[in-house]
Amino acid sequence: MLNIENLLLRLGGNDILKNIDLSVESGEVVSLIGPSGTGKTSLLRCINLLEAPYAGRMTFENDTYDFSKISQRDKLRLRRQTAMVFQQYNLFKNKTVLENVMEAQVLVQKKSKQAAYDESLDQLEKVGLRNKLDSYPARLSGGQQQRVSIARALAVHPSVILFDEPTSALDPELVGEVLHTIRDVAKSGMTILLVTHEMRFAKDISDRVIFMDNGQVEEQGTPEDIFNRSQNPRTRQFLSQFYTPNFEI
Ligand SMILES: Nc1ncnc2c1ncn2[C@@H]1O[C@H](COP(=O)(O)OP(=O)(O)OP(=O)(O)O)[C@@H](O)[C@H]1O
Ligand SMILES: [Mg+2]
Repeated sequence: MLNIENLLLRLGGNDILKNIDLSVESGEVVSLIGPSGTGKTSLLRCINLLEAPYAGRMTFENDTYDFSKISQRDKLRLRRQTAMVFQQYNLFKNKTVLENVMEAQVLVQKKSKQAAYDESLDQLEKVGLRNKLDSYPARLSGGQQQRVSIARALAVHPSVILFDEPTSALDPELVGEVLHTIRDVAKSGMTILLVTHEMRFAKDISDRVIFMDNGQVEEQGTPEDIFNRSQNPRTRQFLSQFYTPNFEI
């Protein structure tokens, strides 16, 4: 469904992503883990062309893109097929929950207001927020805001959802409800690429885990391969910080 070859990204004169190869199958849940500053967010941003790699190729659904020759039309097409969920939710503060979920459907997808309304109700029901339609984001908890942003992502029926550390801005007691919602999304068969520091969750939910280090894919495999059997010293060193006497991945 998604296949990237030889992606190179340079920002501010530095090579941020170096020769990235990555593929995601339809319906697959793939987690990206790795140290801070390693390029995980940048990689997600390349997939919907929020960043412009200077070389590489990507096949998405049945279209092939040459990163060095991206047109405005390519950008629009790709952004219609992808949805991103950010650490900081990125909801419009001056719009209600319902308006936030309807926005892209009406403005980008050109759906009728009625169709967008019906779809929004459906998605908000799924994330358990059908009763908050008229609330403004400031009146919601962080967990609720993140669930609105997940409903907004689902409402455009993307081919893939890109999650960038969706729980790291949340108070610990609110993390569970968001992980629960993401698990439901995964169960529905959605293709997911997830950047996370929640190792136990990544192990549990993923079909495949990719460990990135220093702008490169260092190792990838099943959750067992990475969390239990990795022989790669960098992977092992990264994971060791998540082991404590009372917590085993
Ligand atoms: N606009 C920019 N100009 C120059 N360097 C940048 C820019 N944006 C990001 N970087 C650098 O790119 C590298 C990768 O950043 P990125 O945000 O992708 O890392 P990350 O793996 O998502 O980290 P974290 O886990 O902290 O979110 C970092 O070294 C960062 O400083
Ligand atoms: Mg990041």
